[in-house]
Amino acid sequence: MSKIVIKGGSNLHGEVNISAAKNSVLPIIAASILSGDKCIIDNVPMLEDVFVISNILKSISADVTIDKKLNKIIIDTSNISYCDPCSELVKKMRASFLIMGPMISRFGGFKLCLPGGCNIGTRPIDLHLKGFAALGAKVNVEHGFVEAKAKKLIGNKIYLDFPSVGATENIMMAAVTAEGETIIENAAEEPEIKDLADFLNSMGANITGAGSRAIHIKGVKNLKGSSHSPICDRIESGTFMVAAAITKSKIRINGINEEYLKPIIAKLTEAGVYIRCEGNSLIVDGNRELNPIDIKTMPYPGFPTDMQSQVTGLLSTVKGTSIVTETIFENRFMHVMEMKRMGANIKIDGRSAVIEGVDKLTGAEVKATDLRAGAALILCGLAAEGKTEVIDIYHIDRGYVDIEKKLKLLGADIERVNE
Ligand code: UD1
Repeated sequence: MSKIVIKGGSNLHGEVNISAAKNSVLPIIAASILSGDKCIIDNVPMLEDVFVISNILKSISADVTIDKKLNKIIIDTSNISYCDPCSELVKKMRASFLIMGPMISRFGGFKLCLPGGCNIGTRPIDLHLKGFAALGAKVNVEHGFVEAKAKKLIGNKIYLDFPSVGATENIMMAAVTAEGETIIENAAEEPEIKDLADFLNSMGANITGAGSRAIHIKGVKNLKGSSHSPICDRIESGTFMVAAAITKSKIRINGINEEYLKPIIAKLTEAGVYIRCEGNSLIVDGNRELNPIDIKTMPYPGFPTDMQSQVTGLLSTVKGTSIVTETIFENRFMHVMEMKRMGANIKIDGRSAVIEGVDKLTGAEVKATDLRAGAALILCGLAAEGKTEVIDIYHIDRGYVDIEKKLKLLGADIERVNE
């Protein structure tokens, strides 16, 4: 088992380069199924989740070549067949379910075991299934498997009860070859949705409005192979912004898109962090007195739930009372228990965390309970007095490329220890 060991108190300085977005590349890899041809994805973050979805594709006979040096994946889906993907792999992560839409589109149906993923809430898939049914598929959930069958998919108007990212992507991918027009209303607006639509359009799809509340998809006969370079990771960017703030340091973050970061920039600026954008870079200076703030997570363009634990960690070091309300996932405060081991003063009241800033955090052995919680604990460790050991870091490896190496380059006293 590996762990990350941090000696807190170092000042960070210098520059860090942001990788491409995990949440873009996973649906894009799933979308390659639609081509029945060769797709090339560049600038791929070499992450555990990327290897999992690539292996799922291999388990249904796709030919996947991963070039770790060039950060490139070549996927040939011409030999994919309607067969069972490896359930062990599918259960590892929720994004596995994103192959369902493309498989239904290409083969008129598919059977997949219910997915797994971070333990941050019940995470149902009802909205995905309602969308497939609205397109004319017969959907059945039995013995832990979902089966969808459709003689023909027909475009429809689909109103999502909640702007789910995964449901928007899955329905969009199922609908690209449906007869006629599909309109997804109350769709998720995350930048990764637009990135997926751009890739699908480059394959020959006819999608407009992605990135807004209403997505229009005009069905096409078939799609062809294409190449794509996914957008930058706004959550990794935000994590490094908090790293600067929590260590009272000034760093430069390269390869960002200011537009995607607006909700994070707004809240950190409100807390008193100095942030300046220079093209595709951000200068973040946390070396000043910060104020407590209140935050509520919301679908994009609101404050992202994937930044909630990192900011909770930061606010636990800011004098005064802050309130963080989680509206997206009902079980996303597991990091609070771990932060308390480090001396944080946080009380959970329903969906809110009431945070009383403490003078200092102290190093402790803490457990990464999920991907972003793990990153948040590393950030707390950077600011804490003494040594912090973060265990169960396999969660962190699912979503951050070389996080400890990037922080070390910035001057942190941090290392991965393989036991
Ligand atoms: C995606 C992101 C994840 C992020 C989340 C919210 C990927 C690979 N993952 O996850 O990092 O935290 O968006 O920004 O892109 N829901 C339902 N029924 C459904 C689907 C969702 O009730 O059929 C609920 C979920 O339980 C949750 C909320 O909708 O409470 C948001 O989930 P969703 O937007 O679907 O998240 P994911 O796509 O799983």
